[in-house]
Formats: sequence, structure tokens, C-alpha cells
Amino acid sequence: MIRLTDVYHSYSTGTRALRGVDLTIEDGEFVFLVGPSGSGKSTIVKLLTGELRPTSGKVLVNEFHTSKMKQSEVPYLRRTLGVVFQDFRLIERKTVYENVAFAMRIIGASPKVIKKRVSYVLDLVGILHKARRKPNELSGGEQQRVAIARALVNNPSVIIADEPTGNLDPDRSLEIMMLLEKIHSLGTTVLVVTHERELVDQFDKRVVAIDGGLIVSDKTGGYYRYEEI
Ligand SMILES: Nc1ncnc2c1ncn2[C@@H]1O[C@H](COP(=O)(O)OP(=O)(O)O)[C@@H](O)[C@H]1O
Ligand SMILES: [Mg+2]
Repeated sequence: MIRLTDVYHSYSTGTRALRGVDLTIEDGEFVFLVGPSGSGKSTIVKLLTGELRPTSGKVLVNEFHTSKMKQSEVPYLRRTLGVVFQDFRLIERKTVYENVAFAMRIIGASPKVIKKRVSYVLDLVGILHKARRKPNELSGGEQQRVAIARALVNNPSVIIADEPTGNLDPDRSLEIMMLLEKIHSLGTTVLVVTHERELVDQFDKRVVAIDGGLIVSDKTGGYYRYEEI
């Protein structure tokens, strides 16, 4: 479960990125977090992954109180999360297979378990046939599938995707959203950050809207309209 309680975050520059955010996401939910550029979406993601601590308020992620956790505890929190970014963040000199396998090696999984699991997740995201390729031999949509496979490989309870379709054309974007929906249907909590209204409107999901560091709307089915608020 994810729970932010009266969360404020100010950067050292003085920018007040979050100004009292309350948000609960139950296990098994699929949620879109939407809002214009600079509204505080990525700041929320960074609070959830432990990259940032709130200036005040509470952040609870999968039993971890990230607001007061020690830096040494952050890796344990991260193991419960799979994070996907706009720019894929794959290792260019490693193959697709190695990019995904690496995430299991660093937590000490056995070679046998790694082989089976990596093949399974690459197949799940539809990229097993390109396992021996390097990232620069793939299209953007394919690279994002690899990044999603890597995020999934250690079986996290939550997937957080920050603008996962920001570098993709509309058809590829829809495919990636449908893949995240499929992953959700297999039992993972999914939080997708996006500002792409046309995409969100193609799904009947819970949509949390943020503007100016405040949650301004939380409802199911389609992007909020600015004129409604
Ligand atoms: N590292 C940073 N240092 C200072 N200000 C930042 C930093 N990151 C983001 N901000 C500012 O905080 C606000 C929220 O940013 P962000 O959470 O990245 O928004 P979004 O992801 O919705 O585009 C913006 O005004 C942005 O300029
Ligand atoms: Mg952002």
C-alpha cells in the first residue's frame, strides 16, 4: 500500500513542489497520476522510491516509512518496487537479456532461477525474440518493454512508471499502456505518471490529478478537465 499524509516538499532552491498531498493507493489498484509539467508528479515518485524525503508529512510505501527511514534501508524498499522512466535507462553495452538478468544478480539470485525468470518476463513483455540484441538495436517501444521487464523481474508488488510513453509515438504509447494494464491484471499495483490526456482517456481507470503541488481531482474514468475545478 502507498499512503502519503499531508506531504510537503520544498527543494533547496525554495520551490514548494508539494503543498499538502494526501493520497492512498491500495494493493492491486491501477492509478494514473496526471497533471501539467512542473505540478509535482516526479517529486511524488521520488518520495515513493526513497530518492527524496518529504519536508514534512508521512510517506508509507509497502510498510516502509520513507519519511523517517535510514539511507541503509532504501535498498530494501527498492526491492519491493519496479520503477520505469521516460528515458528507459538501459545499460547500452549489455544485451537485452543481460540488462534484465543484472537486476536479479545484484540481489543474489541463482543462475538457474535467473535464466527461467528472465525468459518468462521477456516473453511476458513480448521481447524474448530480441534477447540477444543491444538496446541501441531496438526501437523506443521495444526498449521500454525491456525496461518494464527489468522492473518486473524481481516480482515487485508495485510498479511505478514516470512518463513511460514520453519518448514514444501514439501507437507505441498505447501498446505500452496496455502492457502495464496486463501487468496490473496479473496482480501488481501500478502507478502511471503521465500528462498525456488522450492516452488516459482510452482507459477506464482511477485518475488522480495534481496541479501546483496539490491533488485537485481523484476520480475514475478519464482525465480531469481544468474547467471542472
Ligand atoms: N531538483 C530540483 N531542484 C529544484 N527544483 C526542482 C527540482 N526538481 C523539480 N523541481 C521543481 O519542483 C516543481 C515540481 O517538479 P516535478 O515534480 O518534477 O514536476 P512534474 O514531474 O509534474 O513535471 C517544479 O517547479 C520543478 O521546477
Ligand atoms: Mg516529471
